[in-house]
Amino acid sequence: MHRLTLIPGDGIGPEITNAVTEIIKSAGVEIDWDVQPAGADVAESEGTPLPERVIQSIKRNKIALKAPVTTPIGKGFRSVNVALRKELDLYANIRPCKNIEGIKTPFENVNLIVFRENTEDLYAGIERKIDDDTAESIKIITRHASERIFEYAFKYAMDNNRKTLHAVTKANICKLTDGLFLECGRNIAKKYPQIEFKEILVDNLCMQLVQHPDIFDVLVLPNLYGDIVSDLTAGLIGGLGVAQGANIGEDCAVFEPVHGSAPDIKGKNKANPTALLLCAINMLNYIGEKEKALKIESALMKVLKDGKCLTSDLGGCASTTEFTSEIIKNL
Ligand code: NAI
Repeated sequence: MHRLTLIPGDGIGPEITNAVTEIIKSAGVEIDWDVQPAGADVAESEGTPLPERVIQSIKRNKIALKAPVTTPIGKGFRSVNVALRKELDLYANIRPCKNIEGIKTPFENVNLIVFRENTEDLYAGIERKIDDDTAESIKIITRHASERIFEYAFKYAMDNNRKTLHAVTKANICKLTDGLFLECGRNIAKKYPQIEFKEILVDNLCMQLVQHPDIFDVLVLPNLYGDIVSDLTAGLIGGLGVAQGANIGEDCAVFEPVHGSAPDIKGKNKANPTALLLCAINMLNYIGEKEKALKIESALMKVLKDGKCLTSDLGGCASTTEFTSEIIKNL
């Protein structure tokens, strides 16, 4: 029996969490979930959206499955997601992006992986109002954080038979910050001559991703570009409903989808649980439940390929619960 932390989140979080835990249970994986609510409702009842109990639970269990948590825009509390990544030093945000059979998009042969530095950059949240008409934000890039994300990505590329790694920056403009990030990439690249190292500016990358995404393999980006580009890459394979992710640190790992809490479809039984389910499959592989992970993945892929029972983001008309039942039927 595994004891793992579960953060159901808010918005569509609880709906997709129910779907995914039901599928995992039906596949016969024994998990004792340590359920840890976080987010806006918790902020009201406990005075903070990210109580210490959540951090302690993940530190204890080492692994968490996390649904999205809403962050107020332009005001209110700091992002729970950012705080969690920082607090647990989950420095590598890994977002694989591969075409899924049955999900039609204008793009073919997409099989790339985004490594987003997860602890600094403009996400450090160091902002101030200078006067009523002027505000500033500080972009932090350190050698330590940059080197370890490149090291992680190069090692992953080696272990997974990847061929090319692009360092993505805007080092022509942010010469010191992105310049340092790029310099770290160049240095680490020398240790991995088997992987072809390339450099690209983030704006050019965005254009090329929507022209011929098949030429990209491993992308390594500072935090903010990584956030934006990984939503773009999600769009290449069918949207946020199918884009998985993981936050990995030295001691803990938090598996969470790329998407947010989707307040526009909250409570409508319309959310696609695929992204969170793919995160869970990745998590099951990570904890050694490979056979059950494969069983769930095969059922999911069959339902997606059949295309008869898809959620509305994928052009179907199935509800979250119908889609979930269909996967369980196929286990
Ligand atoms: P979003 O990802 O929540 O939604 C963008 C669009 O994609 C919406 O139209 C939504 O309906 C759709 N969508 C997202 N996930 C879907 C799914 N599973 N199934 C079907 N459709 C889906 O991004 P948005 O609206 O910018 O952010 C909403 C909130 O989520 C914000 O408070 C934001 O801060 C938060 N957020 C949280 C994240 C996390 O917890 N890791 C990550 C990104 C955003």
